Amino acid sequence: MSKLRIAIQKSGRLNEDSMQILKDIGISIDNGKDQLKASARDFPVEVFYLRNGDIPQYLKDGVVDAAIIGENVLIEKGEGIGIAEKLGFSKCRVCIAVPKSVKYGNIKDLEGKRIATSYPVTVQRFLEKQGVNAHLHIINGSVEIAPNIGLADAICDIVSSGSTLFKNNLKEVETILKSEAVLAVSPVLSEEKKAILRTIQFRIQSVLKGRNSRYVLLNAPNDKLKDIISVLPGMKSPTVLPLAEEGWSSVHSVISKNEFWNVIDDLKDKGAQGILVCPIEKMVL
Ligand code: PRP
Repeated sequence: MSKLRIAIQKSGRLNEDSMQILKDIGISIDNGKDQLKASARDFPVEVFYLRNGDIPQYLKDGVVDAAIIGENVLIEKGEGIGIAEKLGFSKCRVCIAVPKSVKYGNIKDLEGKRIATSYPVTVQRFLEKQGVNAHLHIINGSVEIAPNIGLADAICDIVSSGSTLFKNNLKEVETILKSEAVLAVSPVLSEEKKAILRTIQFRIQSVLKGRNSRYVLLNAPNDKLKDIISVLPGMKSPTVLPLAEEGWSSVHSVISKNEFWNVIDDLKDKGAQGILVCPIEKMVL
């Protein structure tokens, strides 16, 4: 049986979360510290540990079949490569920043300026759309230092927490795109590999739904049940079980992680007591 070859970042911001999601979907592999390739013990998958910037080319060449990679890198270097799933981690944005001391009005202020970046294709496309001509200075790392050493007037790089910009006295002035880790797939896959990929996607979706949801258990007086249930969507409808104490029920439901605090406040106001909130490992719908 053939194996699906998946590339992940060898080291860097995506590595740990990529390893974690593979583990969560039941693909056990070694951590790749001293190796470039490892076979999963219990699934037809081989994992390649590669440099982030090289992964799009490996996908295009069909050296690997799929990859966990930042959407930003794919947009920069991976034309023609499809995205099978957005993975919800390593969120960042590709931004243009200038020194804090510079007065910035709008994008036209970049006309004729020097912009240091590791994302020349992305910046150039953005500037062209805006009708701005600038000189791109391509560097592969520590981009934020460029204005401080007189190499550029502005930079374009990924921003996550914003702390690197802050430490280098830069301010964000344009957001070109938002990015997160994705599962990217090679344009050419055999039917056998497509079937393996479908299983992986199904498992990833179950894990992501679980990560985005919370299991809620609470006690409710029976005369308030209707009110309480009205704020709990549940997967079909909430489960209601009688408590040993007469006149009370236990209510179980699933709520979205994002709505969690609002729903909890609502539940308390409506008379719910003893509210427990638990993480969900996987959700198969
Ligand atoms: C990226 C990017 C910035 C920094 C931004 O570098 O180049 O320097 O992260 O993150 P922040 O907004 O949270 O400070 P990374 O650490 O990925 O290493 P790299 O320079 O090798 O790309």
